[in-house]
Amino acid sequence: MKITVLTLFPEMIKPLLNSSILKRAQDQQLVDFEIINYRDFSTNKHKTVDDTPYGGGAGMVLSVEPIYYALTSIENYETAYKILLTPQGKTYNQELANKLVYKENLILICGHYEGFDDRIRDYVDVEISIGDYVLTGGEIGALAIIDSVVRMVPGVIGDEGSYINDSFYSGLLDYPQYTKPRDFKGKKVPEVLLNGNHKLIDKWRKEKQIERTKQRRPDLLEKYQKNNK
Ligand code: ADE
Repeated sequence: MKITVLTLFPEMIKPLLNSSILKRAQDQQLVDFEIINYRDFSTNKHKTVDDTPYGGGAGMVLSVEPIYYALTSIENYETAYKILLTPQGKTYNQELANKLVYKENLILICGHYEGFDDRIRDYVDVEISIGDYVLTGGEIGALAIIDSVVRMVPGVIGDEGSYINDSFYSGLLDYPQYTKPRDFKGKKVPEVLLNGNHKLIDKWRKEKQIERTKQRRPDLLEKYQKNNK
């Protein structure tokens, strides 16, 4: 899988791509990252990438030209799946992540400043928001998408498919987990996890998943029950 990020702030992105599991995924050649700075595609000698808004108003607007030229400089950009990060987009969730993992080429376009020229929207396949709050730009959103997608690329997380047990993957929140010690200041690990009876353990875990989801995310439980009728 190849993931290209278009941004004015590569320094916000690079350190996270070069840490932990994302770094290991690159080292194992399971994923290839490229960061493109659209300042390198500025159409003027001052290397600016924004301008004042037509119609007036405060702030600067990111121009369509540098973004378009940066985008079209990417090999296979036509067939790549192009995502624009914006608070106006579809709200990101696990279901979307599960679909993105099947794309061979992803391009993530980060907006910044007060906004971008609306014509940029014509060159993307989907607009994604990572939640109902406004960030200074799309970079943190791009990283959230990259992290959640790359961890599902086969081979990235040790155990093949271990993410299947994650919160959200099944549509339910995760069950509680414990490790040593068995007793911490009187707080004991549930007995059922200590007896090695895997049928009983699986049953207990499923019950806990449903209980937790009911308590914390009744909206998810309702959706899960509808889908598993
Ligand atoms: N850019 C600014 N806010 C954002 C958000 N919530 N999601 C994605 N991109 C953004």
